[in-house]
Amino acid sequence: MQKIKNSYMKITVVGAGNVGATCADVIAHKELANEVVLVDIKENFAEGKALDIWQTAPVNMYDTRIKGSTNDYSKTAGSEVVVITSGLPRKPGMSRDDLISTNAGIVKSVTENILKYSPDAIIIVVSNPLDVMTYCAYLAAKKDSRKVFGMAGVLDTARYRAFLAEALDCSPKDIQAVLMGGHGDTMVPLPRYTTVGGIPVTELIAEDKLNAIIDRTKKGGGEIVNLLGTSAWYAPGAAAAQMVEAIVRDQKRIFPVCALLNGEYGLNNIYMGVPVKLGKNGIEEIIELKLNADEMQLVKESAVAVKEVMEVLDNMKMF
Ligand code: LAC
Repeated sequence: MQKIKNSYMKITVVGAGNVGATCADVIAHKELANEVVLVDIKENFAEGKALDIWQTAPVNMYDTRIKGSTNDYSKTAGSEVVVITSGLPRKPGMSRDDLISTNAGIVKSVTENILKYSPDAIIIVVSNPLDVMTYCAYLAAKKDSRKVFGMAGVLDTARYRAFLAEALDCSPKDIQAVLMGGHGDTMVPLPRYTTVGGIPVTELIAEDKLNAIIDRTKKGGGEIVNLLGTSAWYAPGAAAAQMVEAIVRDQKRIFPVCALLNGEYGLNNIYMGVPVKLGKNGIEEIIELKLNADEMQLVKESAVAVKEVMEVLDNMKMF
């Protein structure tokens, strides 16, 4: 495995709930850092989770140190990457957008606290409603948008790829896919950019089956909320950790990431999922696919849905 280049790598995960703790666990397990700090507002909660995760180190054979802190951001000082998972998760019957009034205030104050101690940190937002919470962190951070972005596409494509692997009875490793748009029911999986071991997926599966998978993918988060009564955590936590890995190992991986668009795809001043190259500088490049008219139409519709929620945030006059 490639060695970490920096002499001491520190990563913070804010929010020690299911997603944050899973993310910290995966980061530690993959030895992506020397130290992972888990922060939570609930007294002793992050400390407890960190202690439990740290006690897996001798079993899972890693040496990443995990520390917990109750809202003491001085412990996070010098973090290279910060994952923000704070906020309420969805309950059945709620859309991600219903969370905005509570989560916006949380994401704003977490971002400000983080930057007090780690002004150069790359920030990955995971809180919902994802696209707008990423925009909120960007407004609070007042820094280069290539260093403030959100995790949704890695998770949404993972769901799409998992469903395809099941339908095709093949390894999920061989399924490559791109998905664009907001992290909601208007997201846009792109079959024309989906391959299985290099073979276009459309050659391997009937159109109606593929459409059913696309539909299931769009509602993939809701499917789990309905089953569990709360939102997913294994796949979201692992997906955020995969983005951390691409950054700290400067892998220059191509992932769909919630990024600020300034003219790309004809869209301006909106945070939304697009394919990017992720490396040590954060978003190294936004990749502009040559979408056909139908695909572009779906992306534009998704942008309209995201903009509506962005307006709710703007109307809250927090910035
Ligand atoms: C989901 C939540 C985390 O899609 O947004 O599962």
